[in-house]
Amino acid sequence: MKNRTLKLPLYVWSTLALLSLTTSCAMVRDMQALKTPRYESGPQKGADYCGGCHKDIYDQWAKNSRHAVANSSGTFHGMKEKFENDLMLNTMMGVSMCYACHGKRATNEGVNCETCHGTTLPGKSIEETHAKKYEPGLADLKKPDFCPKCHEMNNPISGSAIMSVYSEWRKSDAGKKGITCQECHMGKSGNGLSYHGFDSGVRDIGIYKDDLAVKEIKLDFPRISLLLENRVTGHAIPASCGTRLLVMELSFRDVNGKEIYTLAETFTKKTELMANLMPYKVLKNSQLQSGEKRRLVFQLPLTLRGQVSEVIITLRFYEVPDEYSGDLKWANWASEPILRQTARF
Ligand code: HEC
Ligand code: HEC
Ligand code: HEC
Ligand code: HEC
Ligand code: HEC
Repeated sequence: MKNRTLKLPLYVWSTLALLSLTTSCAMVRDMQALKTPRYESGPQKGADYCGGCHKDIYDQWAKNSRHAVANSSGTFHGMKEKFENDLMLNTMMGVSMCYACHGKRATNEGVNCETCHGTTLPGKSIEETHAKKYEPGLADLKKPDFCPKCHEMNNPISGSAIMSVYSEWRKSDAGKKGITCQECHMGKSGNGLSYHGFDSGVRDIGIYKDDLAVKEIKLDFPRISLLLENRVTGHAIPASCGTRLLVMELSFRDVNGKEIYTLAETFTKKTELMANLMPYKVLKNSQLQSGEKRRLVFQLPLTLRGQVSEVIITLRFYEVPDEYSGDLKWANWASEPILRQTARF
């Protein structure tokens, strides 16, 4: 019996994979595409080399950007090892797929300077590389389709949009106005250079400031309602795939300020997994779409009648591996609160 339950998903998935491999050329192509590095895969000099002259940019990248730890973090290795140990996923796709986006395995520097700007010209001086490659290359790096090389992904079997910031962007206000990912995420820093910190929720909550708003908090016992607004005009929040959760916590207090009840609501892309690991298909999407204003209504227990004097609302991000389907107990990390608001009744 035990064996059977273990074998079932494997069988189902391998059959599906075989079936699809023999029936759909598009899928074979998509599977191949997923494994193909999104960058030049030749030998790299490494970030220290570039950083020797581009010190400010190097520091921003090394200190703030998740790019710099994209293939060295514990989170990455944890998931990579589970992937490697799964016969079906490993046979079908292989971990080379991870390095197609998470940077070159050999350098262990994640998405580094050369991943984005390209490798140096072999046998040529750095001045020549600048003149022939890096300077002319900047025009392409500023284009809207540069970041989605890695930040947009459909599962090759289901076709479901696992990472979709670019397609969201194209339909968004910012997209229609041609405001690119780079303009929002790499806006010029103090020294006039494009910012290379690519801030994320863990490292700097600065860019989240005022991106979300909570309004019209009304208590009409036993119901409490509010309006949650996503003011980011470029894509849904939380951006990225299902491991990133936006959580709204409501803490109800009595006249003495004592917590008498709590509620939490999660916003994310909930995905069905292959082999309990790889996002296969989006089941439910509760992300706040770009510019969306969402009315939320919660029901309080009747026993609280006459007792609720205030509510404290907190919003923060959590990172929970997909296999724990959003259970906050298993979070790798939680951000500082990005919004904290009190309403008194
Ligand atoms: C010997 C010092 C030195 C090294 C090493 C170096 N650069 Fe540069 N780089 C410069 C200088 C000087 C400029 C031109 C002035 C400026 O824009 O800062 C420049 C400009 C650039 C530009 C912008 C070109 C433009 O038109 O604005 C890019 C992109 C660039 N470098 C990338 C790299 C990368 C990637 C590496 C590592 C493979 C690297 N550089 C290594 C000195 C260096
Ligand atoms: C995730 C991709 C990415 C990585 C990693 C990256 N860059 Fe850039 N870089 C860009 C893009 C995109 C631009 C153009 C931004 C703009 O102005 O719109 C740029 C611009 C530059 C420029 C032009 C000058 C400026 O600031 O406008 C230099 C120099 C540069 N990068 C050097 C580096 C160095 C050195 C590293 C490694 C420490 C690095 N980059 C890592 C994407 C990247
Ligand atoms: C070569 C692939 C690649 C390219 C090109 C790339 N990224 Fe990334 N990016 C990644 C990976 C992989 C991560 C996740 C790293 C991690 O957390 O381990 C990431 C993380 C990020 C994060 C932090 C996300 C988070 O959840 O904390 C931001 C923001 C980001 N990228 C923005 C950009 C922008 C803007 C561009 C275009 C200028 C870009 N990236 C280009 C691969 C790439
Ligand atoms: C109008 C400005 C704007 C544009 C355009 C934009 N972003 Fe963002 N992005 C933000 C803000 C603000 C956040 C922080 C809110 C969040 O993570 O939910 C963010 C968050 C992210 C994150 C997650 C970072 C984290 O820590 O959770 C990624 C990845 C990302 N953006 C990638 C992109 C890519 C790729 C593009 C282009 C297709 C893009 N963004 C276009 C403003 C923008
Ligand atoms: C198509 C490009 C792409 C491929 C292929 C890919 N990733 Fe990612 N991965 C990203 C990007 C971009 C992010 C960050 C933004 C997001 O979450 O949307 C990310 C985020 C992650 C994170 C969360 C990082 C953190 O600490 O917040 C982990 C873990 C991860 N990837 C592991 C893997 C593993 C393991 C593989 C191979 C089985 C893989 N990825 C394949 C692009 C890719």
